[in-house]
Amino acid sequence: MRIVILGAGGRLGAALLREYQGKFDVTGVGHAQLDLTKPEQIQEKLSPLKFDILINAAAFTNVDLSESKRDEAFAVNADAPKLLAEICRDKNAKLIHFSTDYVFDGEKRQPYIEDDAANPISVYGESKRAGEKLVLRTSDRHLVVRVSWVFGPDRPSFVDAMIMRACEEQDIEAIADKWSTPTYTRDVAEMLPRIFDVEAGLLHLANSGKCSWQEYAQHALDCCQKFEVPLRAKTVGASKLADLKNWVARRPPYSVLSTAKYQALTGITPRPWREAVADYIERSYSRKK
Ligand SMILES: NC(=O)c1ccc[n+]([C@@H]2O[C@H](COP(=O)([O-])OP(=O)(O)OC[C@H]3O[C@@H](n4cnc5c(N)ncnc54)[C@H](OP(=O)(O)O)[C@@H]3O)[C@@H](O)[C@H]2O)c1
Repeated sequence: MRIVILGAGGRLGAALLREYQGKFDVTGVGHAQLDLTKPEQIQEKLSPLKFDILINAAAFTNVDLSESKRDEAFAVNADAPKLLAEICRDKNAKLIHFSTDYVFDGEKRQPYIEDDAANPISVYGESKRAGEKLVLRTSDRHLVVRVSWVFGPDRPSFVDAMIMRACEEQDIEAIADKWSTPTYTRDVAEMLPRIFDVEAGLLHLANSGKCSWQEYAQHALDCCQKFEVPLRAKTVGASKLADLKNWVARRPPYSVLSTAKYQALTGITPRPWREAVADYIERSYSRKK
């Protein structure tokens, strides 16, 4: 299996590249080697490459900046995936394109399934939804994988920011009325090959369960204590989504992704987010290692 990974310097792409080295014939392509806003560069870079699967983990991921950089967000998140989908179709290869829980408006209070109507409430969400549609329209072999609240060792995310703050400050808080599921890049890397051959269309991949940002941060601090990471703050106070005034873009309050389809396809339940976070903190922060 020859695999090319785009976005190989990002949080998810770097993890996929590392996990697949030695298991597959894998090549990583980072932003410096390929700028997805340049269609001619995409053609030039990918034309000579031979691959069975192209994984696109590259994206314009800054949710707030997307509001003022709409054209760039659409170029990276919609126009580029369309071209990637066409190149893959012409090479008889499969495109696995990553997308997001932010394609939903967050008004539901049950986990979102793949058949639920997308209704993005931000430019980022709109651009990612446009990319999904363009990829799926190009070939019925291609796969769009939505993930949520991604964390891992290759680039800091919410959990790392909360741990850093807890190391420096005594009183910290996190939003208690926004829910989704933290998803470990290692677990995505482990789950994805199970559906390389079997699945096309839309698929949700996440760890199991759901939590608020406050619960997520509290669990992270509890794990830090267990693994003897010195902290100043031990508890995470609750704040409200409505109190957050410095966000430019709207975020869905509830964006839990149902993994029932993945479970039906593979017979495997993704591990609970609490275990995944504990594993990450032990590997990345523990002094007991
Ligand atoms: N992070 C999350 O919580 C989250 C949640 C849901 C879905 N997702 C989705 O998961 C996927 C992976 O996200 P991630 O967390 O790994 O994000 P990330 O760490 O921001 O990685 C995105 C990668 O894309 C690259 N990139 C940005 N603009 C580019 C361009 N014009 N040309 C080429 N490469 C470009 C970035 O390079 P530079 O850093 O050099 O710009 C970076 O390496 C994305 O599809 C994202 O929408 C992420």
